[in-house]
Amino acid sequence: MSQALLDIRVERKAFAGATVLQDIHLQLQPRETVSLLGPSGCGKSTLLRIVAGLEQDFEGQLQRPAEPLAFVFQEPRLMPWLTVEQNIGFSDDDRYDRAWVAQLIEEVGLAGFAQALPKALSGGMAQRVAIARGLYSRPRVLLLDEPFSAVDAFTRMKLQDLLLQLAEHHAIALLLVTHDVDEALYLSDRVLVMDNRPSRVRRELAVPSSHPRDRRDPQLAHLKALALTELHSAQVI
Ligand SMILES: Nc1ncnc2c1ncn2[C@@H]1O[C@H](COP(=O)(O)OP(=O)(O)O)[C@@H](O)[C@H]1O
Ligand SMILES: [Mg+2]
Repeated sequence: MSQALLDIRVERKAFAGATVLQDIHLQLQPRETVSLLGPSGCGKSTLLRIVAGLEQDFEGQLQRPAEPLAFVFQEPRLMPWLTVEQNIGFSDDDRYDRAWVAQLIEEVGLAGFAQALPKALSGGMAQRVAIARGLYSRPRVLLLDEPFSAVDAFTRMKLQDLLLQLAEHHAIALLLVTHDVDEALYLSDRVLVMDNRPSRVRRELAVPSSHPRDRRDPQLAHLKALALTELHSAQVI
């Protein structure tokens, strides 16, 4: 048995006979952050769905924690008729753990908005709610599929810092899909650049600098150049 928190081998994943993912081996250590970068349609979301157990029709093996995994998507996917606290507790009755929900609201920077409805929130605030909802079940792994693609650049940077803080504080590992090379390098311990279909991991870039990182760090710029070269070779850009 591997010591990794998550260990996934996909020998092959196909849709209607067309191979999407092939020969992928991905491990996630406790508290580690790994990002997936790659072409649109190469199977990144499919890989996250396999990890989450939502997609079981694949050739390979999945070893994952017994506890639930949480998912954050590009859109916050809040229920419009539920308040912020009900969305986080995932229920319209009061049977959720209200103290824990209140703590999460505080931690994601939404103090005072517990009773607000989603329509009163900005996109960035709504995504904070989605993150808090992800944390509600106390997962050891949070899966994020382009979580900040729909928010502006400065909000995105704030949300990235928030995510790092929360992951550190709650000892959560992150598996993140993004199209943003800077985001991947700023957040991650490792960045996996994927090939076009059938997709494999084309290159793994380790990011050695510790947190908090400086976005202007020349080491990140050097890694960005490597990542861009790989993305170019994979015909992503
Ligand atoms: N449920 C499905 N049925 C058929 N094809 C699918 C399904 N889900 C994804 N695909 C196809 O698999 C490929 C990978 O999709 P996806 O994982 O969403 O890619 P990515 O997230 O990297 O953009 C795409 O070509 C997509 O059309
Ligand atoms: Mg996707």
